[in-house]
Amino acid sequence: MEFLILCFLIFGMSCAAKLPSYITPCHQSDPRLSECILRAMEDVRPHLKGGIPEFQLPSMNPLILPQATLDTGANFKATFKNIEVYYIDEFIFRRVNMDLKNNFVDMVLGFSRLRIKSIYNIQGRLLVLQLNGNGPADGNFTNAEVSVTMRGPRLTKNGKQYFNFNQNKLDLKFGQSSMRFDNLFQNNEELNMQTNRAINENIDSIIEELRPVLTEVIGKFIFGLIGKIFDKFSVEELFPQ
Ligand SMILES: *[C@@H]1O[C@H](CO)[C@@H](O)[C@H](O)[C@H]1NC(C)=O
Repeated sequence: MEFLILCFLIFGMSCAAKLPSYITPCHQSDPRLSECILRAMEDVRPHLKGGIPEFQLPSMNPLILPQATLDTGANFKATFKNIEVYYIDEFIFRRVNMDLKNNFVDMVLGFSRLRIKSIYNIQGRLLVLQLNGNGPADGNFTNAEVSVTMRGPRLTKNGKQYFNFNQNKLDLKFGQSSMRFDNLFQNNEELNMQTNRAINENIDSIIEELRPVLTEVIGKFIFGLIGKIFDKFSVEELFPQ
């Protein structure tokens, strides 16, 4: 608020910077810039649950995604619709390293728990299992660790510089996972149970198979959130001299 008033007094109406009050800008000259960013991001987190209108971010309790598709060629196709991700707002930033000069940031986030529900449609071979079904899917993932690297040249809009991270990478690790696919074999409850048991006995390999979809879902959240902040506020607004 103070910033806004000051901004108004100095620049009059032309000053469009409206950082939400809970985003504390970090100074470019701060020798501990990355630590400052880490703290600033931690202050944003509690606001995610209810959504952040300034960033057009919807409520994240749960986070809803319409669809994600996995297509590994002829052998295996899976579509997940009405994806609901629970507890995604409970992440913590483990490490942030921001390099303003070279336009890149890398960071590690931890998610102590995630639950992903969806409506699946799977056709093909998953490990040794021949599947052809659709219905509700449920998965719990604990102690997930997500490493993210974002880089890209700056962009100039209305005479101001913005970060435009267009080369993004995301790497996922999970602690423990369990998944359930209902209705894999229509009414054959016995076969459903056996197959789900086999899935969970080989959960690490199943996670490997599903990795592209999980990466897409979690990437949408992380790149969406961070991209929206950097898209909306210029380098100078977020990191004053
Ligand atoms: C996920 O966790 C919830 C709550 O602890 C539980 O009710 C549900 O059955 C779990 N789902 C799977 C697939 O493990």
